[in-house]
Amino acid sequence: MIYYKTEAEIELMRESALLVSKTLAHIAGLLKPGITTLSLDKVIGEFIRDHKAEPTFLNYKGYPFNSCISVNDVVVHGFPDKNELREGDIISVDIGVYKNGFHGDHAYTFAIGEPAEDVMKLICVTKESLYKGIEKAVAGNRIGDIANAIQEHTEKKHGYGVVRELVGHGLGRSLHEDPQVPNYGRKGTGPVLREGLVLAIEPMINMGKKDVYTEEDGWTVRTVDHKPSVHFEHDVCVRKGKADVLSDYSIIEAAEQTNPNLNAKY
Ligand code: CO
Repeated sequence: MIYYKTEAEIELMRESALLVSKTLAHIAGLLKPGITTLSLDKVIGEFIRDHKAEPTFLNYKGYPFNSCISVNDVVVHGFPDKNELREGDIISVDIGVYKNGFHGDHAYTFAIGEPAEDVMKLICVTKESLYKGIEKAVAGNRIGDIANAIQEHTEKKHGYGVVRELVGHGLGRSLHEDPQVPNYGRKGTGPVLREGLVLAIEPMINMGKKDVYTEEDGWTVRTVDHKPSVHFEHDVCVRKGKADVLSDYSIIEAAEQTNPNLNAKY
């Protein structure tokens, strides 16, 4: 069942998406070597509640934290823990909030210090692929057009591995609504996009092979070859002519650029 949102609902969803962006921007200002991801998760929970919202992920299907924090070869759903971030780490921070009856759900990958050049390239290309997917999120296109644009840019053009087991999704009163939004597929296939459909588009791209596995904790997804993986996610409303991006990277990027502990050169 696909739900199309009214203009009033879209504005509420924009508010939820923007609260995630603001939380990510706040975290961007705190990142540095030596900080633990568990301490970041605590700040994330407090920030969300201070803004009269609930952290979506906490207790979702038993998920035990406010956020997913995935470092280096962790693809997604990493548990915040007591390990300190180190110079050269890359870290995806994925946050969900529930406010006014709607969820926001998006993610950003940060580079601590100076990761290797090929790692910075992976971050850059994955972010580019998200925007190539978003360009296709217009009424009349199909899900496969988004999927194919992401796969072309990452797998075909740069030889990276596109994760198959995890996909983007519809977003609204539930965290996961129809349709699924894979990051691989054929143009002109899948459900047709209509105005008012809100999607979480989220490429998960591996530097090496596409294969991943889930750890014993039932959540943490890692690359089989232990090469790094990058994850970016935006909340996007399908419109005629041009997609409407509800989340906002510009405030995250501004915080990233003023934090001397981050490499924002991509
Ligand atoms: Co998502």
